[in-house]
Amino acid sequence: MESFAPPLARKVAIDPDSATRSKRSTHLERSHESALAALTAVSSYLDSDEDLPAFFGRLSATIAEQSTARRAAFWRLGPRGTLALQPAPYGFGDESPVYGLRLQLGARGEGVLERLVFADELVLVKGTSPELDAIWHRAGLRDVRNSIAVAWRAGGRRIGAVSVYDSEHGFTAHDLWVLRLVGAAAGLLWQYKESEDEVAHIAVRLEEAMAARRHLLNNIAAGGDEARRRFASALHDDSLQLLTAAELQLERIRADAKGNHHAVQLDQLRLTLRKVEDSLRRLLTNVSSEPVQQPADLGEAISERLESLRIRAGIEPHIESRLPERIPQAIRGIVLKNIAEAVTNVEKHARATKVTVVAEKNDGGIRVSVKDNGTGFVVAESVRVPGHIGLVAVRERAQLAGGWCRIQSEPGAGTKIEFWVPLSL
Ligand SMILES: Nc1ncnc2c1ncn2[C@@H]1O[C@H](COP(=O)(O)OP(=O)(O)O)[C@@H](O)[C@H]1O
Ligand SMILES: [Mg+2]
Repeated sequence: MESFAPPLARKVAIDPDSATRSKRSTHLERSHESALAALTAVSSYLDSDEDLPAFFGRLSATIAEQSTARRAAFWRLGPRGTLALQPAPYGFGDESPVYGLRLQLGARGEGVLERLVFADELVLVKGTSPELDAIWHRAGLRDVRNSIAVAWRAGGRRIGAVSVYDSEHGFTAHDLWVLRLVGAAAGLLWQYKESEDEVAHIAVRLEEAMAARRHLLNNIAAGGDEARRRFASALHDDSLQLLTAAELQLERIRADAKGNHHAVQLDQLRLTLRKVEDSLRRLLTNVSSEPVQQPADLGEAISERLESLRIRAGIEPHIESRLPERIPQAIRGIVLKNIAEAVTNVEKHARATKVTVVAEKNDGGIRVSVKDNGTGFVVAESVRVPGHIGLVAVRERAQLAGGWCRIQSEPGAGTKIEFWVPLSL
């Protein structure tokens, strides 16, 4: 922090000489002006659509002007301690060897570059840093008359260096201070730019993830129906057809065998085949009982399911339905599947006399609870039983849609299944 206070300002109070004081206050004013100009130049980039080279070009020009230099350049610290020139340094001719320059840093604290980048140290001798000048000369910039440089920092991070060259009267501590200020401001801007890029990246990745989730969800919503449809048509078109053919064949054999000792056994066989056919047809109605075309009205579908529960199992239903008119089809499918599973469980396992289903719009989604007054069960045990995946599927469907699911039950205390899914995918 210390390095950002105008170095001359601190001395004003202990100098009694008024001429010096007024000279110092002029210095102070100049410091403020330089600081303001530099910060304005840096911060103006935030609103501009300028690309990075154009920005660095403009910033370098301002820096050169503020630190009374003829040339200025930004250097970015790269992997393995290299300093690479940033685009558009100011004041260098097209042919300058500066464009091909790559400076290698050594261990921290060893050379002048390392010390200025990592420790904000630079020794000024007669308006220049002789150590730095030597580096430029060795690197081919033979016409450098004097130079200073400071760390380019982003908060606590050291991201490179800013260097200025050729001050007419040599560089002062004031120039060094202005340069440090600009280095810090440019670093903040760099961080801002970097996080902007990162945010844009994250937004893209998030959108991709959302699209994948929507796709998955639609597949899940349609997947069960698709599998069921294929199963039902295979059952209908193949198995039942073959069975009918077998029965007809049997019919003929039986006619031929009239009166002979096989007749009774053949009758028996015919009865068995009838039973197989019946059972397959029941299976067919079961698998295709959930309409492939989903009902448009979710409330109605729930009522129908509960009505059949009342007729088949004598369980008294109570429904509270406060659903919105428009529900996306995939969400409708998920809600209905989850309710169907919960209600089927009541029918199969609960030995309940009452069931209450509440379905309502809540918090931008649909919240459902299915509660029975039956036997209850130990939730932790039920999820570990192989082959029983109804409740696991209920939870998965809710979570994949971006919602949640809670199962509350205890032996003797009934069961409550609750879930919430958002209305938009
Ligand atoms: N409403 C309920 N009342 C009592 N027990 C239940 C209820 N719902 C689920 N269970 C218990 O949890 C187990 C797991 O349920 P589920 O995952 O749907 O599989 P499945 O219905 O195929 O058995 C059931 O076997 C049953 O023991
Ligand atoms: Mg089940």
